[in-house]
Amino acid sequence: MRLTWYGHACFLVETGGSRLLIDPFFTGNGQAPVTADEVTADAILVTHGHADHLGDTVAIAKRCQALVVSNFEICNWVAAKGVARVHPQHVGGAFEHAWGRLKLTAAQHGSSLPDGSYGGNPCGLLLSAEGHTVYHAGDTGLFYDMKLIGDEGIDCAILPIGDNFTMGPEDALRAVQLLRPARVIPIHYNTFDVIRQDADAWAERVRETTSVEVTVLRPGDSLELA
Ligand code: NI
Ligand code: MN
Repeated sequence: MRLTWYGHACFLVETGGSRLLIDPFFTGNGQAPVTADEVTADAILVTHGHADHLGDTVAIAKRCQALVVSNFEICNWVAAKGVARVHPQHVGGAFEHAWGRLKLTAAQHGSSLPDGSYGGNPCGLLLSAEGHTVYHAGDTGLFYDMKLIGDEGIDCAILPIGDNFTMGPEDALRAVQLLRPARVIPIHYNTFDVIRQDADAWAERVRETTSVEVTVLRPGDSLELA
């Protein structure tokens, strides 16, 4: 399984010949090293309705005939915009897709859509494929039930550290302690001025206080999960 970070919360997951895009925010994302027209996807996983996560979902899904997986409300919204293939799930529910098992997890955040429509509850993503389990927390504050998510055995946790809209560095460190992943990747920082953080300093703190591996990616970097 190969993870490529496109800045902010956006990842490409390549697994078993499938290409999964998570929170495909390219247009307006100053960190993205590629444009929405340059990426392809078999499936697009959307954590919540905010523009910096829903991003270019509709355009990419239409061009690639990609399956959109998200909560029920967001799936209905993109379907009304002309996306042909959607698979709604909801918090706590898992499904065995062709490319892996995906469970939507809770997140403490909002989820309104760009036009003000109701976007359901925000989600995190727990993806298991090819023997790897990846947790993308979406946008969230710290919550104690992360301990339950950690009980599932996480190989790689992807956590916001930006503060202001989500957990900041302090709470993200506590999240690592609750989740107990083998590895963690910090995201959702430096995209905007209000979420400016020193990810390398955060990584040092994680290394000092836990036995968790930390990978600080630069936008465009990939990580292969062995
Ligand atoms: Ni958000
Ligand atoms: Mn966000």
